[in-house]
Amino acid sequence: MKYILSASILSADFANLHNEITACEKAGVDWVHIDVMDGHFVPNLTMGPFIVEACRRITKLPLDCHLMIEKPENLVEAFIKAGATNITIHPENNPTILNTLARIKSAGCKAGIAINPATPVDVIEPMIAQADLILVMTVNPGYSGQKFMPEIVEKIAKISALAKKCQTPPIIEVDGGINTDTIALVRDAGANAFVSASAIFHHPSGIAVGVEELRVSLV
Ligand code: DX5
Ligand code: ZN
Repeated sequence: MKYILSASILSADFANLHNEITACEKAGVDWVHIDVMDGHFVPNLTMGPFIVEACRRITKLPLDCHLMIEKPENLVEAFIKAGATNITIHPENNPTILNTLARIKSAGCKAGIAINPATPVDVIEPMIAQADLILVMTVNPGYSGQKFMPEIVEKIAKISALAKKCQTPPIIEVDGGINTDTIALVRDAGANAFVSASAIFHHPSGIAVGVEELRVSLV
């Protein structure tokens, strides 16, 4: 099976973003992961549709947009217009999530549901069939470079089992602390897409080696 590697540019050098994304593309990364944070839903403040639009001009790779924001329904149109490929939203504090997922799909984008470490699987269970992908957080969202939470592995397996029951099973993507020590662990629990920021962009030998080492860990 072909696994998807999604490079999170949160750890990229933003003074050199074009080269960093080109290096990811050359290294065989499948998606570019864009972490959108609003300083409310999470304490950090990062990028918006403007950066997505810039990335769209830099690369042909799918843009995997992870929205960690309050009221994503207000901004979803802007991300669609900016050229997002996947738009993933959180169910926490989001009573209109189903409408927003439907809107994302109707625009021809992949609609994703992200789930925080503290959120029980029951919260997303009734909506799994509505999603093209489920993004399981293995750190508390907000920053790259955090430690992987091993206690979430069981949750990945549970979500993966529920996903398999769907007519079109959603992709199971894992985000947070993914490196050569953890990637096979989450793959074995049922994940087939992997987000990584620091293991790619902060690899001491560079992006190409970082990507290659993650791929080798999946063999
Ligand atoms: C965390 C973000 C992640 C983060 C991953 O809130 O959603 O995508 O960039 O960073 P690493 O791979 O360094 O844990
Ligand atoms: Zn993310």
